[in-house]
Amino acid sequence: MASTSNGLDEVTAAIAELSTIDASDPASRNEIVENCQLILDTLQDPLTVVMETLSSIVKFPCLAVINRLEIFKRLTSGPLTASELAAQCNADRWLIVRLMRAATAWGLVKELGPETYQATTVTYVFAAPPCAAGLRVGEKIHKILDSLPAYLEETDYRNPASASNGIFQYAFGTDQESFDFFAADKEYTKDFNTFMTVQRTRGQQWTEQFNVASRILDGVTIDRTVPLVVDVAGGVGQDLTLIKNAFQHATPTAGQLVLQELPHVIDNVPAELHDPDFEYVKHNFLTPQPVKGARIYALKHILHNWPDERALEILRNLAAALTPGYSKLWILDSVVPDTGADKKVVALDIAMLGFHGAQERNREQWDTLLAAAGFKVVDLSVLSDGFGLIEAELAA
Ligand SMILES: C[S@@+](CC[C@H](N)C(=O)[O-])C[C@H]1O[C@@H](n2cnc3c(N)ncnc32)[C@H](O)[C@@H]1O
Repeated sequence: MASTSNGLDEVTAAIAELSTIDASDPASRNEIVENCQLILDTLQDPLTVVMETLSSIVKFPCLAVINRLEIFKRLTSGPLTASELAAQCNADRWLIVRLMRAATAWGLVKELGPETYQATTVTYVFAAPPCAAGLRVGEKIHKILDSLPAYLEETDYRNPASASNGIFQYAFGTDQESFDFFAADKEYTKDFNTFMTVQRTRGQQWTEQFNVASRILDGVTIDRTVPLVVDVAGGVGQDLTLIKNAFQHATPTAGQLVLQELPHVIDNVPAELHDPDFEYVKHNFLTPQPVKGARIYALKHILHNWPDERALEILRNLAAALTPGYSKLWILDSVVPDTGADKKVVALDIAMLGFHGAQERNREQWDTLLAAAGFKVVDLSVLSDGFGLIEAELAA
């Protein structure tokens, strides 16, 4: 943005480029949005930016209430008035009007007329189980991050790096780490696992964008006596299903795809997600990896949950299971660029700081961590939103 024209050159170029992009092509839409964002960022009055940022603090709590009242879901059955919503939710009509006025102003629902609301495409996404569950998980994140200023002041602005003694423990008044704390909470566990099934890459699924089938099969003779993919801490199998679907030919057979998770997660895989071809293994990744010599060990959105010391423990427990020259480690996590990090990545980074004393990592931090655990990076692919696939092998 450094320019003698205060960014006006870039704005002019972005406006010119907009007229050349085909808006009917879904693949081009992100480019359009990025150009519009640049135009907005440059032309918006700074005070407006500041006031809008300050105003945004009311957004999440209102969304949490709307979600608790299942208003988004109710609207997916058709338009509703404030009185109808009030009756369905057993809530005060005027409270509903105020919440819905806000939701309309934020572009999350549409007003058909005074006190009459209609679902938009955004409403439908919020109403779907993964995002409704995500909003309930978000209530916990909100509680944690509410403590951020006081906690950091009390700890002299040290960068938190402990899973067992940090903002989470401060906010919840507990000695437990967050995964242990929530393990006994069945509703939260269900919500968290449902939330994790949401697509977190822009555009196609990550398995398509990273062309996983050819990465797994090409240039090697597959050993059918060992699993093809072990998804370590793979939730309820959402990614293993994507991996399975990515094979056009040579569909993996029973036992070739292994889902590892903590016992309470494996025990609660919903029937509709259960795949008889998967092998379900209860495993704590802070203990040695029991499945030896698989082609791929995948850690997706795992290491960002852990500060370096624990991340190293997880990696070392895995390293011992890899067959040199055959097995690969896949880390699927953000690779934060040195400048211009994506909004989604920075949000995840701060959420990880609060929940686990952990972080999103840049290329150098990944290299250092992996080298310390005995791995070397053999390939790195990063999508435009900062989500990366780091392919590593055992270092010689
Ligand atoms: C952020 S989720 C990622 C799930 C999945 N890989 C995905 O990308 O959607 C982290 C997962 O780590 C699991 N987990 C936490 N501690 C674990 C441990 N000690 N051993 C195995 N899994 C663990 C949790 O149950 C949770 O499903």
